[in-house]
Amino acid sequence: MSAPDLPLEQATLPVATPRQARRELWRALRPERLGVGLAFAVLAATVTAGLFIPPALGRIVDVAERSGTPAELVAPLVVITVATLVQGVAGSGGWYLVVRVGEKVLAALRERVLSRALQLPQAEVERSGTGDLVSRVSNDVDQVSEALREAVPQLLWAAFTVVLTLVGLAALDWRFALAGLVSMPFYVWAARGYTVVAPPLYTAERAAEGVRSQALVETLGGVETVRAFLLGPRHLRRVGEASEMARRRRIRTADTTAWFFSRIHLGELTGTGSVLLVGALLVGDGSATLGEATAAALYFIRLYDPVGALVNLLDEAQSATASLRRLAGILQVPVEARAGGEPPVAPRLSLEGVRFGYADGPEVVHGVDLVVRPGEHVALVGSSGAGKTTLAALAAGIHEPVAGRVLLGGCPVADLDRDVLREHVALVTQEVHVFAGTLAQDLRLARPGATDEELLAALEVAGARPWVDLLPEGLSTVVGEGGHPVTAVQAQQVALARLALRDPAVAILDEATAEAGSAGARHLERSMERVLEGRTALLVAHRLTTAAAADRVVVLEHGRVVEEGAPEELAAGTGPYAELWRAWQAGR
Ligand SMILES: Nc1ncnc2c1ncn2[C@@H]1O[C@H](COP(=O)(O)OP(=O)(O)OP(=O)(O)O)[C@@H](O)[C@H]1O
Ligand SMILES: [Mg+2]
Repeated sequence: MSAPDLPLEQATLPVATPRQARRELWRALRPERLGVGLAFAVLAATVTAGLFIPPALGRIVDVAERSGTPAELVAPLVVITVATLVQGVAGSGGWYLVVRVGEKVLAALRERVLSRALQLPQAEVERSGTGDLVSRVSNDVDQVSEALREAVPQLLWAAFTVVLTLVGLAALDWRFALAGLVSMPFYVWAARGYTVVAPPLYTAERAAEGVRSQALVETLGGVETVRAFLLGPRHLRRVGEASEMARRRRIRTADTTAWFFSRIHLGELTGTGSVLLVGALLVGDGSATLGEATAAALYFIRLYDPVGALVNLLDEAQSATASLRRLAGILQVPVEARAGGEPPVAPRLSLEGVRFGYADGPEVVHGVDLVVRPGEHVALVGSSGAGKTTLAALAAGIHEPVAGRVLLGGCPVADLDRDVLREHVALVTQEVHVFAGTLAQDLRLARPGATDEELLAALEVAGARPWVDLLPEGLSTVVGEGGHPVTAVQAQQVALARLALRDPAVAILDEATAEAGSAGARHLERSMERVLEGRTALLVAHRLTTAAAADRVVVLEHGRVVEEGAPEELAAGTGPYAELWRAWQAGR
């Protein structure tokens, strides 16, 4: 089966289960537990202070009702003043504490996610596309940080207020609390439905957004290719489809939110009605004063805001939870372990009658047979669109042939464990990625545990030391987009250094198309030779000097092998390679 171009659901990075997400959150929270405890205590004190206000107002009503003396008003007024002051001061203090702890937790989480994102196995990133990763480390981090800044403090305040206010109602008369609780089933009903219905909707919405970003990144990032291959309309259609999907899912979540609010208002109506009714009855039979009934009503009305906030926040918390799960999902991808005990696979690569076509296109590889013997360097040449990149991806196990087999040491690549495959075969693609980050982080993509010495040694092999040693902060220099600029040749050297760090037995290299200046090109050729020494290599050669240095050349045209042999022999002949060779010589 050929991999579809842009699947709407699969092939994105994993999403953590709620349990995994909770574990990651707890891991980030644990070092801050003291701060969390303090913030909770201050918030609880704030809410408790507020509880004194309604009964004090009730007292004033009672005094007024029996036409008492003004002196009787002093005590309740003092209570109201002090409670208001405490509420104000402690309230802002508690808020500050919660936000501060939240920021620390977020920083820890963000750091972990980013460093893991940089260590993700390249194949995993290739498979799921950089758009998904970008959407997670930008949109999802934003979602979670917004929640930590706004939603979490409010959520805590609201939860404390609801619980303590119910206690206050009960302290007036247990029947008031009971009347207030009449509204609860509405709230619980709405909230339960929402917590069950909404999360998958949010996850789906985010996934659709990830797919849309991916489609945009692919279209814009590959704009040259899109134009060159006249893929414009196809890409537009893809972006359109992805946007439409994202839009539809967004509307579904909005509908759910509206449904949720209507239940909340029903709860407010019922609750206030019953507290007033109970108040009237209790005042009527003399078991409560008018002031107490007033206090009860005030208590219940005080619940509107926190319950409303809980509603809003449930909404935001749901969406933040979806984001948190996507962030934690990144942490669930196993970082490439360099297992020492793997059974060695003979570094012999063979393609047998391999056929392949992209999802919605015609067949582009028409039955290719090709063997790269252990230690041999085979160069793949051919005009643009011949299928070289496609064949390289097939050989690396990135695409699965529609017919035929790809074997590594006699074992079908399709059956090999992905980790084992990655351990033995590495693919360097035509577009060289330099991820935004420090040079060291970029290199450790290839081997997370590598020491600085190992990184420098790899750079040495790749011939990059001369310029790396001149970087302002050495390995810690931020390179690539937004950082220290690197030239095309330097970027390719970094890619070669990553390959040296990976140290695979079989290297598949798709030479960058961009024509480096001839001095740069010679430099790169030497780097490539050093990095590939002792490895089995399949090289897609765009510079025929690379092909000339290989043990054997395979010429591919229109998805078929048309010629094969030692470069000198072919160059001396009259076949397609000799033609390519002469054109290349003339063009230089
Ligand atoms: N992602 C894709 N989806 C659909 N068709 C594709 C895709 N990538 C390549 N093709 C098609 O497959 C054929 C082989 O393309 P491929 O990229 O393998 O050629 P190439 O030999 O590497 O070319 P170049 O020298 O320009 O890198 C071309 O017809 C191309 O249009
Ligand atoms: Mg190519």
